[in-house]
Amino acid sequence: MQTPLRLGIAGLGTVGTGLLDVLKQNGALLSGQSGRDIVVTGVCARTKSTERGGHSLAEYRWFDDAGDLAAWDEIDVFVELIGGDSGPALDSVETALRSAKHVVTANKAMIAHHGTRLAKLAESNGVSLQFEAAIAGGIPIVKVVRESLAGNNITRVYGIMNGTCNYILTEMDKERRDFADVLATAQELGYAETDPSFDVGGIDAAHKIACLTSLAFGVETSFESIFIEGIEDITLSDIQNAAELGYKIKLMAVAVQTDEGIEQRVHPTLVPKGSPIAEVDGVFNAVGLSGDFVHDILMHGKGAGGHPTASSVISDIVDIARGSKMPVYGLPATQLKPYTRAPMRAHEGGYYVAMDLYDKPGTVAFIAQTFSDENISIESILQRSPATNAIEEANDELKPFIMISHDTMESRMRAALTKISETDHCAGQPKMIRIERF
Ligand SMILES: NC(=O)c1ccc[n+]([C@@H]2O[C@H](COP(=O)([O-])OP(=O)(O)OC[C@H]3O[C@@H](n4cnc5c(N)ncnc54)[C@H](OP(=O)(O)O)[C@@H]3O)[C@@H](O)[C@H]2O)c1
Repeated sequence: MQTPLRLGIAGLGTVGTGLLDVLKQNGALLSGQSGRDIVVTGVCARTKSTERGGHSLAEYRWFDDAGDLAAWDEIDVFVELIGGDSGPALDSVETALRSAKHVVTANKAMIAHHGTRLAKLAESNGVSLQFEAAIAGGIPIVKVVRESLAGNNITRVYGIMNGTCNYILTEMDKERRDFADVLATAQELGYAETDPSFDVGGIDAAHKIACLTSLAFGVETSFESIFIEGIEDITLSDIQNAAELGYKIKLMAVAVQTDEGIEQRVHPTLVPKGSPIAEVDGVFNAVGLSGDFVHDILMHGKGAGGHPTASSVISDIVDIARGSKMPVYGLPATQLKPYTRAPMRAHEGGYYVAMDLYDKPGTVAFIAQTFSDENISIESILQRSPATNAIEEANDELKPFIMISHDTMESRMRAALTKISETDHCAGQPKMIRIERF
């Protein structure tokens, strides 16, 4: 048997202690699969005295500083489980790569912001940089895209990649509760942070799609090019309306190759009821993609939690233990193409529109004419049909008008809704939610 592979683990929180669990529980299995033992030599966290899920740290060398662990001669792999797109996580990873140590990380924020540069640093130092756990926790999508689907031109990757949002939207739907109420429960249950803005605002899902876009399309990572909308404005009425129209609302992260470039977007999305992605409920994640030869794939599983995430971390470690080395993104980082952003105004798709209209003569005719002027055709309308209903009768009451459009260009939909909102037919701003077809 070869010499043991020596790990330095920085960060002993949810994922770090999950990793210690798998090393302890499945040590013999890992040695057999790797052809060598995998041992921890050094660890680092903020507070040495903290209890670590029943694990004794006595046999490991303790480091107060992650950078010192990263540079230590007695590790082969630096496992970064601290988190954050900069600060000690980034600094220590750079130190490890410069010291020719392999790096395994679960840190999507760091990879989303610095992935291309770190990949170049790893490859120029002849070491691996692996981040299977950074996208959708326990779902092994990185290896699938980088290895199993090599030889496919990928046209779209997408997923439900934030369990907090999916839990909130599922509970709103099933329990008929509003957003704030369910968010409070999610916080009590530990599914949402005290400051939930990263999750509900779509940033966390955007980090993941940024990483996936580079893998799927062979382009440099470009987090700042992602169009991001969170779920904060989704109401119970939207969810009920969508259900009546045959859809569920999910927070989707999507990257699509278009003629104008790559569209990267995170936003609440209507997905057809009965489609596999619509069935992904609660804290579960799913990641799907379309390739020219494989056609469609959807993987479903736990996107977070200490053990599922550690499962992905350990798979990267086993790869390194086996001596398998490959470019971080499947092709050398110096060959990644510059990212070309497809503007959202050019996005083509269907839309759910909800607005409150004043119940007075001419309103429906005006709405119909405005959509027609922008070449937008209506697929279905909920509650009131412009052709037949009582909305033309004069009174000052507000009537909800809910519709689904056929596919159109986003610039056209925005132009129509701006025009409508600038008249006295509509109270407040119309709401628009994109539809994803499968
Ligand atoms: N949790 C999940 O389900 C999950 C899923 C996928 C990916 N991830 C990613 O995995 C990483 C770790 O997440 P987590 O949930 O395990 O975080 P966590 O529970 O908050 O643990 C973070 C760990 O980092 C340590 N730490 C913080 N600042 C440090 C510093 N300056 N120097 C050294 N250690 C420091 C903390 O030390 P103390 O314990 O002493 O405070 C703690 O042990 C993040 O990048 C996260 O995005 C997490």
